[in-house]
Order: sequence, then structure tokens, then C-alpha cells
Amino acid sequence: MATRHFLNLLDLSPDELRYLIQRAISIKNGLKTHGPTYTPFANRTLAMIFEKSSTRTRVSFETAMAQFGGHALFLSSKDTQLGRGEPIGDTARVLSEMVDAVMIRTFAHEGLETFAAASTVPVINALTDDYHPCQLLADVMTWTELRGSVKGRTAVWIGDGNNMCHSWINAARQFDFQLRICCPEGYEPRQDILAAAGDRVSILRDPMEAVMDADLVTTDVWASMGQEEEQAKRESDFRGLQVTEALLDRAREDVLFLHCLPAHRGEEISMTLLDDPRAVVWQEAGNRLHAQKALLEFLLLGPVES
Ligand code: CP
Ligand code: NVA
Repeated sequence: MATRHFLNLLDLSPDELRYLIQRAISIKNGLKTHGPTYTPFANRTLAMIFEKSSTRTRVSFETAMAQFGGHALFLSSKDTQLGRGEPIGDTARVLSEMVDAVMIRTFAHEGLETFAAASTVPVINALTDDYHPCQLLADVMTWTELRGSVKGRTAVWIGDGNNMCHSWINAARQFDFQLRICCPEGYEPRQDILAAAGDRVSILRDPMEAVMDADLVTTDVWASMGQEEEQAKRESDFRGLQVTEALLDRAREDVLFLHCLPAHRGEEISMTLLDDPRAVVWQEAGNRLHAQKALLEFLLLGPVES
């Protein structure tokens, strides 16, 4: 059977994604009631290649492997031969001989695809310039935990048409919800990704209009990793798109606010938004651990009965 990779949300079917969300919730509840006694990854190793910084992704994958009885290797591109020009495909073949799965955080999505094409073990996208699908597993898990099925509901993305926005678009397709994107002119998501989602996804310019009666509002930093030099220009271009408590007041009374984090208070969110009870970002961040466990389990062992 061909090796399954998770490079974006379209690599799994809607049924498989729904299974992962339910499985992640079940793993989380099991951890609370029974403690970490389930160790299906004994003698399994995950290689984690990081070409960009990370807190949540690294800690959640490493902890997931440890709690499930396996081991994770942190590989910074600076310290491996990748940083000295060893071809990506050669690295993929070498790691495939030794480890059970590989997780990669990098810049160009094509580099990840090149790696996956040469890898005989599952490869997981831990963020590229184009997508961040692991974050969406935790986000949809959080939304589902708190509000039940997300099918037919309405989420609003405020900000840059970036890697997170692209993943929200794919999530709208796979989980069948409506997505309104509110971004400045010139910062739209990629046209092909948008077009493939059909009329589930719309672009609006006025945040007050975009959030009206929404079930969920989310945003992200205005300048992503690798765009630090554009910070000042982006601060000016995104003015007026800050998510505030007053903006959430326009949404449904039970609206949830998500942010993948790290957040810049005073930029894309108000200074106090994360203290508002509608913001569930700490639960969202914690759910990275459980979602990662469900994903790794699925890729290494296949679906299991909860
Ligand atoms: N949200 C997220 O991926 O966080 P890190 O960059 O800290 O991994
Ligand atoms: N869009 C952000 C997400 C960080 C988790 C970035 O790529 O830097």
C-alpha cells in the first residue's frame, strides 16, 4: 500500500478527518481519566525537521511521541547536512531507512513535496509558506468539542490570506462549513485554492459585515515567519482589521475566537482579547497535543476503535 502523507488537509478524506477529530477528543478524555498508559509507539521514532522557529508544534509532537511510548528527534536544518546542501530527496531516503515518520516545518511547500515523494515513511506538514494543516486539526477539534458538529456553520477569517487562511479554506471544503475571509486588497489567498472551495468561501472587505452572526472568528499575525521585513508595511495595510471584543459582539452570542498563536496583542488582536471568555486559544493550543497523537496514530497504525 502506498505510504500516506499529510501535506495538506486534502490528503485525507472528509470521513478520515472526522474520524481524526473524534479520535483526538477520545484520546484527550482517556488521558484525563486513565493517565498516559496507552503506549502504541514503543520503539517508534519521529524525525522532526525544523527550518523555522516553533513552540507549540515542537512541544506537541515531541510530547505526543513520548506519551505514546515512542521517541522524537529534533533536527534543525542548521545542524544537519540539509543545511550544507545535501539534496532533500537523499535526506528523505536516508531517514526512511531509520525512522517511522518525518515531520517537517519549512518555507517552500515544494520542498516538502519533494521530500514526501522520496520518503517511504509518512511525512507530515508542520507548516510551510502555503499550509499549516496540523493547526487546523486542533482548531476543528476545539470548535467541535465546544459546539458540536461544524457542518453548515460559519467561520470568519480576518487578516492575511496566508498559510493558515489556506488551511481554513481546505477545512471549509473537507468539513463542509461556510468561510468568510476578510482581508485587505492585495492580501487575498491563492486564487486556485479559493476557486477549488467553490461558493463555501467568500471574500469580504468590511470586518463588521464579515463577522455578522458568525459562529467562529479567527485571525493570525499580519507578517508570517519569513516576512519580517514587511512588518511595517503590513501594519499599515492591515489597519482596521484588528479583532476586538466589540467586533465579536457583532457575531453570534456563543461565538468562539481562535488564534493559532503566537499572537501580537495590539496588532491583529486588541490588548485584552485573549482574556475574553469567547477566546479559547489556550484550549486550542493544548489540543495540538491530542490532535497530533491522533494523526500520528492514524499514519503509523491506521484507524483504531475508540
Ligand atoms: N501555532 C503554531 O504552530 O505554533 P508554533 O509556531 O509555536 O509551533
Ligand atoms: N502564519 C504564521 C503561523 C505561525 C504558526 C506563520 O507562518 O508564521
